Amino acid sequence: MTAQLIDGKTIAQQVREEVAADVARRLASGKARPGLATVLVGDRVDSATYVASKQNACAELGMESFHNQLPGDTSQEEVEALVRNLNADPKVNGILVQLPLPSHLDEERVLQLINIEKDVDGFSPLNIGRLAQKGREPLFVPCTPFGCIYLLEKAGVTIEGANAVVLGRSNIVGMPAALLLIGKNATVTVCHSRTRDLPAVVRQADILIAAIGKMEFVRGDWIKPGAAVIDVGINDKPDPTKKRGYRLVGDVNFEEAVEVAGHITPVPGGVGPMTIAMLMKNTLRAAEIQAP
Ligand code: GUN
Repeated sequence: MTAQLIDGKTIAQQVREEVAADVARRLASGKARPGLATVLVGDRVDSATYVASKQNACAELGMESFHNQLPGDTSQEEVEALVRNLNADPKVNGILVQLPLPSHLDEERVLQLINIEKDVDGFSPLNIGRLAQKGREPLFVPCTPFGCIYLLEKAGVTIEGANAVVLGRSNIVGMPAALLLIGKNATVTVCHSRTRDLPAVVRQADILIAAIGKMEFVRGDWIKPGAAVIDVGINDKPDPTKKRGYRLVGDVNFEEAVEVAGHITPVPGGVGPMTIAMLMKNTLRAAEIQAP
């Protein structure tokens, strides 16, 4: 069997076009241009690249972006003062503090300061708390897990009643992905570095979300035939045939898994493009909440 590919690139593009059309409608009706503030502390190259892509997406979709670049030795008080200013700025509908922050900063204190109505990353304790509770709705869902669920639904995968296995329990992907799946009535197992007999647990999964950051870690014979596999990993694999000397691979051994799974996301072109698309969707939603 060869799995059906879930084309994240095309689906993300559709989401972006829908958002751009809604932004254009808001502008035509005299409403303000939605605005996203990005905050980057320090000079991590990967974080700078992600933030630049987020700014470019804003420009492409007709939104404003306001970038705030702070030196790596910025104090806790300075970062908090910036977040307070952004909370008070009516042109800013969404605030995104790029993670990880340098280790001397208290990430939790920064994230909990973000006004819940501007928390387009969905990382504030209030939004995560609501995601974790039955009958409560967060205002925003974290972008990468939101993208994973969106891909499953677009591919027509049934989540309700499915056995879902999430590999990884990070605040950014694994844990919110598990909470979202529970909210959609899946039976969820969250695996991590101390899980016993991981292959046996993964073999039970009708839906597998792999977010552990280990190159091609999940083997084809761990996958239940027909399962839906969502690969969140982005790892550099040395490849001398490539000009840059490497290629991107996921946390799942794609060549093996594609022969067993029912659906699978490729890397690149699967979950990756969805994160920014969902951030744009969340930023539009923030503008709609603040100025209906
Ligand atoms: N670092 C890695 N992923 C993310 C994300 O989705 N949002 C933020 N703010 N930082 C990240």
